[in-house]
Amino acid sequence: MQQNVASHVLIIDDEESILDGCRQALEKSGYSVTTSADGAAGIKLARDIKPEVAFIDLKMPNCSGMDIIELLSRDLPDIVLIVITGYASIVSAVEAMKKGAYDYLPKPFTPDQIRAVTKRGIEHLQLKREADSLREEKARMEKSFITFVSHEMRSPLVTIQQYIESLKLIAADTLKSDAVEIISRCEKRLQSLQDLIEHWLDLSRIENGTFSEAKLPMDLTEALVRSMDEMCPVCQRREIILESDYKENLPRVLGDQESLIRVFSNIIGNATKYTPPGGKIFVKSDYDDYYVYVSIADTGQGIPQDKLPFIFEPFYRVRGKEERQKGSGLGLTFSKKILEAHDGRIEVSSKVGEGTIFTMKFPRLFEL
Ligand SMILES: Nc1ncnc2c1ncn2[C@@H]1O[C@H](COP(=O)(O)OP(=O)(O)OP(=O)(O)O)[C@@H](O)[C@H]1O
Ligand SMILES: [Mg+2]
Repeated sequence: MQQNVASHVLIIDDEESILDGCRQALEKSGYSVTTSADGAAGIKLARDIKPEVAFIDLKMPNCSGMDIIELLSRDLPDIVLIVITGYASIVSAVEAMKKGAYDYLPKPFTPDQIRAVTKRGIEHLQLKREADSLREEKARMEKSFITFVSHEMRSPLVTIQQYIESLKLIAADTLKSDAVEIISRCEKRLQSLQDLIEHWLDLSRIENGTFSEAKLPMDLTEALVRSMDEMCPVCQRREIILESDYKENLPRVLGDQESLIRVFSNIIGNATKYTPPGGKIFVKSDYDDYYVYVSIADTGQGIPQDKLPFIFEPFYRVRGKEERQKGSGLGLTFSKKILEAHDGRIEVSSKVGEGTIFTMKFPRLFEL
């Protein structure tokens, strides 16, 4: 890596001979050097000139080098702090590194050694700056990607859905039953694609921080009712009883209604996939002094104990490739992330042959 000749180095040490030696060694290599024999003056200099690297003697008569490290690493996150220490104080060097120092230089040291430590510090800083700018670039790309997904993919899907609706209206009486079946399959596939995109957008919003800003006081009962309405036709088709017991006056929570509806629908949807005809899905809400609880229980085939720890992992499906039900194994991964973005939790318990219950808890919103 190319050395940055304009790099500024500050040295804070009460021994004038050390200051002189360091200055000579570093100026020879093209660094711009400022020195201070006093801790407080050194802090002021650091704040004013914002050097790339600062060497700080841990033992000075009127000032603790440790405090300087703590202060500067808090005030100037971009500075590389290096402690100068006596042989006997390696332990305190380690402590200083915990407080934010990057490296240490044991006394006595040669001009070559201080040059080598400085060079390493500058290289570290350059790498950190590159990493920061890559991170910023990644965040920018993610933002524009979200815009791309939402406009370029979501809108055509909605249009296709509308065309299918129109086709059904125009040709309902004339279509043969196998054509109706094909249209219905198209609708289902379209719906899963739309769900996937919505989940994906939720995740991006969680990652870039815009999700938390969009949360509003909301009523979980309303979201549950909407999910149940959405899932009712599937349950009817599969001859599964869908029942609910909503606690009255459920306290509100801070949430994103649409993404929570997706979570509830996914969990009810899972229950419909793994519960045989004649089975039951039971949706319940409750609360205590701190949390609002939602549980979704089914009387389905259950999940073996040894598989339970994995069901929230991306693409995990209990029966792997043998799984006959449609799905990508992402629903519960999304659900968990969305619950976490609500400072909530999702838990599962299950018994093979008896059923599964997912319990979610949300911090309740205290309102005057
Ligand atoms: N109620 C349930 N009963 C039995 N097994 C379940 C139940 N819910 C989830 N599972 C198991 O957990 C796996 C993961 O569920 P998840 O919702 O993440 O994915 P999926 O339903 O397979 O696909 P997707 O939701 O992405 O369409 C499922 O494939 C299934 O094996
Ligand atoms: Mg699912």
